Amino acid sequence: MFVTVLLLLVTLCAQEGHGEERAEAPRSGHVSVVIVGGTGDLAKKYLWQGFFELYVNQARSGKTFSFYGGGLSPADAATPVLFEILKAVSCSKDVSQERCALLKEQFLRLAQYRQLKTQEDYQDLAKHIEQELQQEGITEAGRLFYLSLPAFAYADVADKINNTCRPTSKAWLRVVLEKPFGHDFRSAQVLAAQLGSSLKDEEMYRIDHYLGKQVVAKILPFRKENKKFLDPIWDKHHIERVEIIMKESLDVKGRIPFYDQYGVIRDVLQNHLTEVMTLLMMRLPMNLSSSEEVLRNKLQIFSSMLPLRKNQAVVGQYQAYQTTVQQEMNKMKDHVSLTPTFAAVLAHLDDAQYEGVPILLIAGKMLDERVGYARVLFKNDIFCLQNPDAVHCKPKQIVFYFGHGSLQYPAILVSKNLFKPVLMDGEWKEVTQHTDVNILGLPISDYYVQTPAEQKEAYSELISHIFAGRKNSFISAENLLASWGIWTPLLDSLASSYPRIYPGGADNRDLLDIRVNGRDIGYNTEVVLISPDQMGGTSTNSFQVMQGKFRSDDMVSAWAEELVERLAVDIQEAAEAAVREGGVFHLAFSGGSTPLALFHRLSLHHFSFPWSHTHVWMVDERCVPLTDPESNFHGLHDHLLQHVRIPYYNIHPMPVQLNQRLCVEEDGGALLYEKEISKLVNGSSFHFVLLGVGYDGHTASLFPGTKVDELGESLVALTESPVKPHQRMSLTLSAINQARKVALLVIGKGKHELITQMSRVKDNRDKWPVTGVKPVDGRLVWYIDYDALLG
Ligand code: BG6
Repeated sequence: MFVTVLLLLVTLCAQEGHGEERAEAPRSGHVSVVIVGGTGDLAKKYLWQGFFELYVNQARSGKTFSFYGGGLSPADAATPVLFEILKAVSCSKDVSQERCALLKEQFLRLAQYRQLKTQEDYQDLAKHIEQELQQEGITEAGRLFYLSLPAFAYADVADKINNTCRPTSKAWLRVVLEKPFGHDFRSAQVLAAQLGSSLKDEEMYRIDHYLGKQVVAKILPFRKENKKFLDPIWDKHHIERVEIIMKESLDVKGRIPFYDQYGVIRDVLQNHLTEVMTLLMMRLPMNLSSSEEVLRNKLQIFSSMLPLRKNQAVVGQYQAYQTTVQQEMNKMKDHVSLTPTFAAVLAHLDDAQYEGVPILLIAGKMLDERVGYARVLFKNDIFCLQNPDAVHCKPKQIVFYFGHGSLQYPAILVSKNLFKPVLMDGEWKEVTQHTDVNILGLPISDYYVQTPAEQKEAYSELISHIFAGRKNSFISAENLLASWGIWTPLLDSLASSYPRIYPGGADNRDLLDIRVNGRDIGYNTEVVLISPDQMGGTSTNSFQVMQGKFRSDDMVSAWAEELVERLAVDIQEAAEAAVREGGVFHLAFSGGSTPLALFHRLSLHHFSFPWSHTHVWMVDERCVPLTDPESNFHGLHDHLLQHVRIPYYNIHPMPVQLNQRLCVEEDGGALLYEKEISKLVNGSSFHFVLLGVGYDGHTASLFPGTKVDELGESLVALTESPVKPHQRMSLTLSAINQARKVALLVIGKGKHELITQMSRVKDNRDKWPVTGVKPVDGRLVWYIDYDALLG
């Protein structure tokens, strides 16, 4: 078979006028490529394509090849699968159709599937390679094993390769491994030792595919080419902040058994984002092609990184994650996973050059868009009083844009108020014609933009490096352990942190915004994080809760997390008491964002809540369809109802939409709801009503100026809000004041001013509707967090 292909290669070269480049040229030699896991996802998506491109590029080099797809399945079942994959490989634009067809035909002929399960299978493979070499009389150049396998199989396969598949001649052996390389420092060390007993370090190629991304691979060359511009500004005096961001819009469905053990920090921060950070911050090597120098300079970054503490990270989890975990891992409804799908980490280097420069590493699933970039934002000490659009007033930044997002292609962008970068080698081109997009605060026309002349897949790039034996884009054992050394203490400290739950996509809005505060970071908005120590428990011992009086009613105060937990416990206690007493609990919830944390707490931690005996009512509603994200019911549904087992006939949304129209007086929606209350709720007296208070003193949808007294005895009314959507439906003060217990929840620094005012003002239900909340036979309790209380 080799002979045929050699002949073909020679013919092809001759046809194209390269007859002198014969297969027997001095650089000749045979290379066997074995993809273990050759019919798996990664192989199908990237690896075979990468090896085909290698073959195309090497077709004239004098090398010969054979390709093996290996796997656990028997050959008769897996061979057709492999060939289906192989048939899909394609050539780049610069290869003529005719040449491409010919090369593809050869490639297919050089490939075969082999079952690689036992040591004997590996032995047979080695024998097969040797026999073919002998028969064809060709010398061997090397053997490349690509382990596209779950990491637990690495040590065993490496051992089998070592025992049976080492080339006997001087040919090389290269074994390629994909992350995860361990789970933490300890396991990475164990894996490194296991692999080290079978393979030499120089034989191992640990892949981080981000290092094959064209823009990432160009960071060092860019820094070098533009040294004269960058040297004066690449330091703490000029750099405001470095951001390395990887936003993804997809979820992790289908990968849960892997993902749930790893989470976003292990999956992408410890490796991809860290690698990018080292390339940006490391001392520029004198010789970029010296793997030794590149890896050594990278290693220095790890030793100069300040330890990552818990306060330097925030974690999040998209809302649907729990359900997917329960489904994919066959877990019970009460199984709670704390695995983060979003993380933001703030790093600093203890280094004279970058001391104090914040380095933000942020990644997450189910975000609003797919985009990856590293941005170096420079300080701008010019204050523009009148014309902020003048070029010297705009952000000064360099953006290494990996791809996707609004730009849609990989690029390096330098804001025009910095410098005009040197155009890199011929493989890059300058972009001067732009579609009108805005990239990180600047219109694209405000940047000098360079992009690769031809876009290439990261894996294809890395495969060509492996083939060339260039190790500077791979991870050495030493660097790997140094990286785990940094990340492991942080992972340990976060192990029981409760991630902030985010809805996913555009709905995340500002929920994941980050605030940098000196060495620490936190979420910018005040939605509550719930601490794990209280998970599932309803004990009050651990609460640091203060009891007091506010406006002569009872007040409970605590930090937001504890406060929400205390409120959840109080609601559950009220529910249990009501169910014991009368078999049913009537609970009315307000809308808005403040109760979301309570909803999360109830749905994730109060598994014994008597939902099947609970009726859920709405305090107020916006006159929009219930499916509209603005609808209070929609929020309640998404954040609570869909996660608990509540009979749907116990759920009572407000009938804001009747006769295909919204909140029209004649349709009698308010009356309808009132009747439903009177029918089901004994004495129209809810057991528990949860209220909030707005900046203007409104509560429910009773806004200042609502003539509350004119509403008389009615329980439900149509009202007007000063903010959109203007039309509302709301419980009246008489309905609220008939309740047995009313809770007024107030959270966040933003409410401090209001709370201060409220503590002073007299009752005036027209001006401050909330002051009209005075349960006749029941009890009002204010739940105010320390931020709102103390500011
Ligand atoms: C992989 C992670 O390493 O990188 C995935 O395991 C992630 O979770 C992927 O989706 C992202 O790669 P890219 O090239 O699409 O940015």
